[in-house]
Amino acid sequence: MSNRKKRILTGDRPTGNLHLGHYVGSLANRVKLQNDYESYIIIADVQALTTHWEKDDYLARDIYQITTDYLAAGLDPDLSTIFIQSMIPEIHELTIYYSMFTSVNVLRHNPTIKTEAAQHGFKDMTYGFLGYPVSQAADISIFKADLVPVGEDQVPHIELARKIVRRFNDLYTPVLVEPEVLVGDVPRLIGLDGKSKMSKSLNNSIFLSDSKDEVNKKIRNALTDPARIHKTDPGHPEVCTVYEYHKVFNPGEIEEIEADCRKGQIGCVTCKKKLSGKINELLDPMRERRQKYLSHPELITEILMEGTKKAHKVADATMAEVREAMGLNYFRK
Ligand code: TRP
Repeated sequence: MSNRKKRILTGDRPTGNLHLGHYVGSLANRVKLQNDYESYIIIADVQALTTHWEKDDYLARDIYQITTDYLAAGLDPDLSTIFIQSMIPEIHELTIYYSMFTSVNVLRHNPTIKTEAAQHGFKDMTYGFLGYPVSQAADISIFKADLVPVGEDQVPHIELARKIVRRFNDLYTPVLVEPEVLVGDVPRLIGLDGKSKMSKSLNNSIFLSDSKDEVNKKIRNALTDPARIHKTDPGHPEVCTVYEYHKVFNPGEIEEIEADCRKGQIGCVTCKKKLSGKINELLDPMRERRQKYLSHPELITEILMEGTKKAHKVADATMAEVREAMGLNYFRK
């Protein structure tokens, strides 16, 4: 165990295109770390059902979409195992065992659950929705993950996973691994509207799949300092969305841009062009990789099938240990 390569487990619900917020919040970390860790990336389709439980005709399409985004962003299927949650039944078995010793009150007080319940207008939460952090703890621990790179909103869930693992190891035999959380460099990227965080449902996103023209247009229409009418008016970068994005996507020029803006020496049009240039520079190699998969969609099927098969083996092995630890291996001795 001690000389095995450290593992990562992380993933997303397949609910639409990934955007720049996902990239800087977590995806960039996953791409970087796949060289040093054995990486497992879960496409959490069952978790998606916790808010979209009616038969979802888009689920299959969204699974392909997110896998394409992952590969375009630079996840390498030889280094990162991408798999589908519903196809690993052991995860659901482990969820049930965890649910026996997880308190309903602890789940009710989970801040992310509270925020999401309010967002979805849930007055009464379903058992599945309230319990999805338990299922997420199973996702993580069945792979004995050491590290979970995620966005900031997921931190309470990883904390719960740590608690559940500790409890399990304490109650039975210490076979599970307590995971660490890793939040990206930019835990919360603001949206193009300058108000809330970038989110598909708020219609304020730049998607990884956006074309050059789309990026240029979105940045052209992005909110800047409303007090600045003429190019020579002194600007206030602290209220400007474009400046916020320069901080993230163009850190090399940030001091110059700030100074020139305050002195009224750089106009918003020029400033926006610089930014779209930088964002397109980041997205260009992704566009190239995406093209390859769009012209060979069968590669996506293959990657998902292979990934799920590999992930299944790992989950299966952990579950054998879990059942033994719990004394549930009646006829297997
Ligand atoms: N809750 C995550 C999200 O909404 C998705 C997810 C499911 C996940 N299982 C996970 C993330 C395990 C990290 C680890 O995006």
